[in-house]
Amino acid sequence: MKAWQLTGFGRENLVLNDVPQPEPGPGEALVRIASVSLNYRDKLLYDGSYNPHLEFPMTQVADAVGEIVALGPDTHRFRVGDRVITNYCTRWIDGQPTSKESLYTLGNTIPGALAEYLVLTEEALVKTPTYLTDDEAASLPCAALTAWFALVEKGGLTADQTVLIQGTGGVSLFGLQIAAATGATVIATSSSDEKLERARQLGAHDTINYAKTPEWEKEVLAATAKEGVDQVLEVVGGSNLTRSLKALSVGGQISIIGVIDGFDATIPLFTAIQKHAVLRGISVGPRRALEDMLRRFDQWQLHPVIDSVHSFAEARKAFDRLEHGGFGKIVIRVRSA
Ligand SMILES: NC(=O)c1ccc[n+]([C@@H]2O[C@H](COP(=O)([O-])OP(=O)(O)OC[C@H]3O[C@@H](n4cnc5c(N)ncnc54)[C@H](OP(=O)(O)O)[C@@H]3O)[C@@H](O)[C@H]2O)c1
Repeated sequence: MKAWQLTGFGRENLVLNDVPQPEPGPGEALVRIASVSLNYRDKLLYDGSYNPHLEFPMTQVADAVGEIVALGPDTHRFRVGDRVITNYCTRWIDGQPTSKESLYTLGNTIPGALAEYLVLTEEALVKTPTYLTDDEAASLPCAALTAWFALVEKGGLTADQTVLIQGTGGVSLFGLQIAAATGATVIATSSSDEKLERARQLGAHDTINYAKTPEWEKEVLAATAKEGVDQVLEVVGGSNLTRSLKALSVGGQISIIGVIDGFDATIPLFTAIQKHAVLRGISVGPRRALEDMLRRFDQWQLHPVIDSVHSFAEARKAFDRLEHGGFGKIVIRVRSA
C-alpha cells in the first residue's frame, strides 16, 4: 500500500512510499482510510520540535475517517463495514490519563493515517455520525475535541459566558462554533479582515485584527465593558499568554493549548492573583469525551469548517497550506472513490 512517510526532519522529507499492508492483531481493526485532516502539530512533527526522538520512517497524520475492512481476534466494539474516526490519544479512554496513555499518538509514536490502510486498537476508534461527510468527519478528532474538552468539559461553558478565540485555525474555529452553538458571546482575532468577516458569519460577535492591533487585549476589554472574557483558548503561547491574562475576567479560565508563538512564557503573577485566574493545560481529550462531543454535534448538526481538500497524490500541497495557515481544517482525501 501507499503511505506518506517522514524519512527525516524537514517537510522536504515527506515521501510517498510503498509499504506492506498491515494486518490486524488481537483487539485491532484494519481501517481503509477515506480522508485525513492536518493539524499544526503535524508541522511541529516534521520541524522536529514536537518529538525530537521521532523514529524514521514514520507514516504521518493523526486524524482520520475510514471504513473497517477487517477485525482481529478478541474484538467486540465494531463490525466490518462500520465507518469510524480515530481518537487522537489512542489509549486514553476516560478519567485522568497516565503519562503513558498520552504518549500513543498516530504519526508520532505509532504509524499515522496518511496511508491507504491503518491498523489500530479498536479502543481508539469511534463510530462516525452519519450526517457528516468523510472530509468533515476527518476534521474532528484532535482540533474539535481539544476545543470541546477545554470549553465545555473543563471550562463548564454556559450561554452567559464570553469566549476569546485566537486566529482562525482548526482549534479556534471549533471553539467559535461550539461557543456560538451554546449561545455564548464570542470575540475572535485574526491577522486577516477577510477571515474576520467569515468568523462573524460563523457567529463571532466582536472581531479584532491582531496584526493591525498588536495590543488586542485592550480592545477585548473595551468590548466587554472592561470586565474581560470568561474563557480563552490560548493557541498562540509565548508572550501572547500575558495579553490573554490581561483580557481575562476575574475568575476567568485560560486553556493553555498551543505554542504557535513559543513554548515558553513569562506571566505577570500579580495580574493572575488579582484575577483569580485559572490556567489549565489541555491535551486533547479522552475517547469518552469525543463520544459526548459527537452526540452534541449531531444534535446541533454542527458542520466543521473546511479550508481546502487535497488529493492523496498531492498531499504536499496540503502541507504547504498548513504552513500558510488555513481558515479551518485542511483535508486530504485518501480514497478517491
Ligand atoms: N494541547 C492540545 O491538546 C492541542 C490540540 C490541538 C492543537 N494544539 C496546538 O494549538 C495550536 C493551534 O493548532 P491548530 O491545529 O488549530 O492550528 P492551525 O489550524 O494551523 O491554525 C493556525 C492559525 O493560528 C493563527 N495564528 C498564528 N499566529 C497567531 C497569533 N500571533 N495570534 C493569533 N492567532 C495566530 C492563524 O490564524 P489567522 O490566519 O486567522 O491569523 C493561523 O491560521 C498549535 O500550537 C497546536 O500545536 C494543541
